[in-house]
Amino acid sequence: MITWALLAVLVVTALLYSRWRHSYWSSRGVPTAPGSIPFFGHMFSFLSRSKYRWLVVDEMYHNHRGSLFCGMYMLLRPDLLLGDPDLLKGVLIKDFDHFTDRRSFKSTNPKDKVVNEMLTATTGEHWKGIRSVLSTSFTSGRMKGMFPLIEAKAQGLIDYLYRQLKKDPVVRMKHTFGMYTMEVISSCAFGLETNSFAGDDSIFAKKAIELFAIKPLRHVQLLLLFTFPKLGRLLNIQLAHENMEFFTDVVIETMKQRKAGAKRGDFLDIMLETREDQDQSTDKKKPKYPLSDDTIIASSVLFIIAGYDTTANTLGIASFLLAKHTKEQELLREELRNLIAEHGSLTYQAIMEAKYLDGCVSETLRIYPPVPINTRSCTMDYNLPGTDLLIHKGQTIFIPVWSLHHDQKYWPEPEKFDPTRFFPENKDRIVSGTYLPFGLGPRNCIGKESLKPLCGALCEILSTISH
Ligand code: HEM
Repeated sequence: MITWALLAVLVVTALLYSRWRHSYWSSRGVPTAPGSIPFFGHMFSFLSRSKYRWLVVDEMYHNHRGSLFCGMYMLLRPDLLLGDPDLLKGVLIKDFDHFTDRRSFKSTNPKDKVVNEMLTATTGEHWKGIRSVLSTSFTSGRMKGMFPLIEAKAQGLIDYLYRQLKKDPVVRMKHTFGMYTMEVISSCAFGLETNSFAGDDSIFAKKAIELFAIKPLRHVQLLLLFTFPKLGRLLNIQLAHENMEFFTDVVIETMKQRKAGAKRGDFLDIMLETREDQDQSTDKKKPKYPLSDDTIIASSVLFIIAGYDTTANTLGIASFLLAKHTKEQELLREELRNLIAEHGSLTYQAIMEAKYLDGCVSETLRIYPPVPINTRSCTMDYNLPGTDLLIHKGQTIFIPVWSLHHDQKYWPEPEKFDPTRFFPENKDRIVSGTYLPFGLGPRNCIGKESLKPLCGALCEILSTISH
């Protein structure tokens, strides 16, 4: 009897505690997103596989008309969903010094040494230093220099497609663009030929596909790691996927060869040269942040991870949308024909000038953003402008990218594929802060300028292979 009474007291106390923790937002006059349950908060709906996470967030966003913000709970922890473009610009650009980090987890597991050193996971001054040095790898001059390599890989893709089409008229475009992206990035990042188109699927593409196929249990593990970092560290849970070791070993081996003198002009060479330059430079204006071997290894692997799935998805979905929208496909083919007539072939310059191509790719990223929800971690207490709300250091801001891209308040007929939305003459109709496929501000995607040159393959397909 006493045991039951004790148990009842315990349960009631726990429930009251959960209710108290879950009253954080209401006590500050902030509406709470629907669907919170005791102890778990909104975590359950995030973990549920019956609905994509960005649709769960979309429901929260629309419940408050996305006007300003609403509170949510990951287990007992209060986070904020910020859907207002002006407030978002404050967080991402103007007041960036309060939000320099993304929600991340610093692992103490020795196997996570490389993941911890990746730009995506680094924080504060360390991030700033690495970012300023790595940015020099992604200038338009560098992209132009790498374009012949992209062209060669695009040609490899065309030859592969012709061979495939003879065997089977159905081609899996995401998979095919995945091979192409892996070829380009591994070659541009550290001069490695992965021979994806030669025969059977390359080991590189296989390892990368496995890296992104997150199993349900792993999904739960990762979400818990980010929500309970202290517990994750205590249990010594490994953050990195086991395949990461494969990519790390390849980079370490290539670095050894470079130190022995073999140069190729790729990202790895650029990073090694930058380090050498910095060692010798006395110029105070040049970014000075010596890259360690670990940072160089982590960055090379990261370029593959961050660029592979995002780019392959975008190219695959763009071809799907163009197949569905034959009028738009014809307009793009016509643009490419005219550019070839003017430039002799699909040069870097021609692709940069392709206005309709830009519209098609931008519209693909609007409808299907590869990163549909983004985050920022508050690094310094912040008063949300125009409100009484104080965001505390350590709290996470969720950015509903997919919802903003599909909100008819900003995008008339949001489900319609309309590349003209992004024509230069229409661009001023786009409300700033509502189009975020690459993020925004100092911590946006470092590789965003590489997408258009990478579209070379899509252009080659459209200009070489008929309907
Ligand atoms: C369709 C192509 C791509 C899309 C849509 C995309 C999208 C994104 C987004 C949304 C972020 C987060 C930005 C933020 O938090 O504000 C990001 C970060 C990043 N992306 Fe991309 N990305 C693409 C291609 C690439 C490529 C090709 C590379 C490298 C070769 C790359 C490297 C990175 C890196 C290193 C970061 C972390 C930046 C930092 O934390 O400072 N991305 N990307």
